[in-house]
Amino acid sequence: MNYAEITGWGSYVPPLLMTNDDMSKIVDTSDEWIYSRSGIKQRHYTHVSTGKMAWLACERALASAGVSAEEIDLIILGSTTPEEICPNTASYIKNELGATKASAFDLNSACTSWFYGVNVASDMIKAGSIKKALVVGSERISLAMDWQKRESCFLFGDGAGAVLLEESQTPAGLLSGHMSCVPDSRECLHLPSWGMSPLHFTDDLFISLNFEGQEIFKSAVKGMSDSIAQVLEKEGLTPNDIDLFIPHQANFRIIQSLAKRLDFPMEKVVVRIDEYANTSAASIPLAMCDALQDGTIKPGMTILTATFGAGLTCGAGVIKWGERVEPIGISDKNIPEFEGTVFDLMADSFVHYGVDAEHLLTKA
Ligand SMILES: CC(C)(COP(=O)(O)OP(=O)(O)OC[C@H]1O[C@@H](n2cnc3c(N)ncnc32)[C@H](O)[C@@H]1OP(=O)(O)O)[C@@H](O)C(=O)NCCC(=O)NCCS
Repeated sequence: MNYAEITGWGSYVPPLLMTNDDMSKIVDTSDEWIYSRSGIKQRHYTHVSTGKMAWLACERALASAGVSAEEIDLIILGSTTPEEICPNTASYIKNELGATKASAFDLNSACTSWFYGVNVASDMIKAGSIKKALVVGSERISLAMDWQKRESCFLFGDGAGAVLLEESQTPAGLLSGHMSCVPDSRECLHLPSWGMSPLHFTDDLFISLNFEGQEIFKSAVKGMSDSIAQVLEKEGLTPNDIDLFIPHQANFRIIQSLAKRLDFPMEKVVVRIDEYANTSAASIPLAMCDALQDGTIKPGMTILTATFGAGLTCGAGVIKWGERVEPIGISDKNIPEFEGTVFDLMADSFVHYGVDAEHLLTKA
């Protein structure tokens, strides 16, 4: 039987930080309010595109597996913030990597996009139609933050995380995955201008997130719990058999509620929301890369993951880690840093959303 083992991993976290204190200079909020309601302390904002971040995360994933780009059969970019709708951003990543034979597509199920992608690629590998796939979650969601909406603008950050899946005969990788979509819950998380449907040729594009926080909170906990129950049952496991839980990082209180429902100890839960905020499709692979880097993931661990996003899409999976937790190689590729502050970076966005931040800029 074929399995789709995770043999490579890599991430890119943009260096510019927007802390809660920074945010309180442009929005009527405070570090105390944000941290106590969400667990977020800061978020990273990118000066480069979704594709560029994804490319570097993939370079690092390939190096960590000791695999060359020419060997890759498929690249899936999970993202809500691709560079363009046409052509897709996955083909940009393919070209930058030099993954000559790879097919490439974008997958958008919002924050669940990376996890949905891992399901698709794993099933293709298990079925024998491909042997090696890169699945990367990358988001430049900072550009969609409406600074007039203090209830949502603090929640999101940018970044990218990638894994390499390879055909293997040992039971490793995604053993069971469950994907779902909660009925009649499309409107509680909605970017109405993000696509072709509202296009009026005379209007300026104005992107603004519609958001019902408490509705999302409830649906997310229920949707993820249901998916977790499905995958645990399929694998014949109970929460006691799980060594580590890597959930989507949207709100610390959502993660806590989920752990409580499962009667799962928080010490075995990977929490990175304080550092990155919600990076949407990148959140789980980013947390996974950090957990490998700091030695939290150990050989042979049974890992549970669960996620939700606009739609509301949901999912959960049981991942068996293989024997190797150290990278084979380290990529020397990088992205030049931005010259300026996070306020300089976001200057156009502040103007667009009608926020006066002129006094915070170091650049004329
Ligand atoms: C967004 C979220 C943190 C808000 O927490 P909450 O406890 O539901 O807070 P509420 O929306 O009820 O707001 C409570 C009060 O704080 C105020 N408030 C909202 N945003 C604020 C901010 N940034 N700073 C200070 N006060 C704020 C509200 O105006 C409200 O004031 P009122 O009581 O005087 O009316 C929470 O609902 C959440 O995380 N939901 C899920 C979001 C999510 O995961 N989205 C991503 C999906 S992938």
